[in-house]
Amino acid sequence: MAGLFITLEGMDGAGKSTHIPTILQLLASGGREVVSTREPGGTPLGEELRELLLHREMHVETESLLMFAARAEHLQQVILPALQRDAIVVSDRFTDASYAYQCGARGLPMHKMQQLEQWVQGELQPDVTLLFDVPVEVSLQRLASARTPDKFEAQGAEFFARLRSQYLKRAADYPQRFRVIDAHRPIEEVKKTVEEIILSI
Ligand code: TYD
Repeated sequence: MAGLFITLEGMDGAGKSTHIPTILQLLASGGREVVSTREPGGTPLGEELRELLLHREMHVETESLLMFAARAEHLQQVILPALQRDAIVVSDRFTDASYAYQCGARGLPMHKMQQLEQWVQGELQPDVTLLFDVPVEVSLQRLASARTPDKFEAQGAEFFARLRSQYLKRAADYPQRFRVIDAHRPIEEVKKTVEEIILSI
């Protein structure tokens, strides 16, 4: 496939949303088509599933299956067609979030996630994943002063600690694809790092 698939990851409160406009602007200046999307969501069905996923309590297996149902729709309707026409796809979260939230933080066995991943995506992986990383306390502080939390944002420090360590483990396991960004710095500095990474790819 000719396109470029970039994903953005991090704990809630890590600040990734702040930097999405910069990323999109820089990529678009290269002249190629840029598709900006998000998970869970990215399609009309996926956005309906997002409402359930972010606000309804459910068993972690149900949650994982619904995440991948939304992802299957997203891949078939949006991501694969865009990559096939040579576009750059930027997805605000993808399967690394499922490993971090459903396996790392909520305890779904890894082999079940691997089965879902294999079924829904086959060999497809992002080309580059930007991981916005902050210490757990920073993330919790930022969330405390933000809008009404969704189901995941309302979790406590232990959940966030498991989440962060799973994200960092994946970054260590797949160093060729991950760029870990220290997001516990002034916004301008983080922005500069993000720009350097985007220009380098
Ligand atoms: P998020 O991307 O943080 O959006 P917003 O900035 O609007 O809050 O919210 C999505 C939430 O869904 C986030 O808490 C992580 C969670 N999530 C999973 O648990 N598993 C997944 O596979 C994905 C894609 C997201």
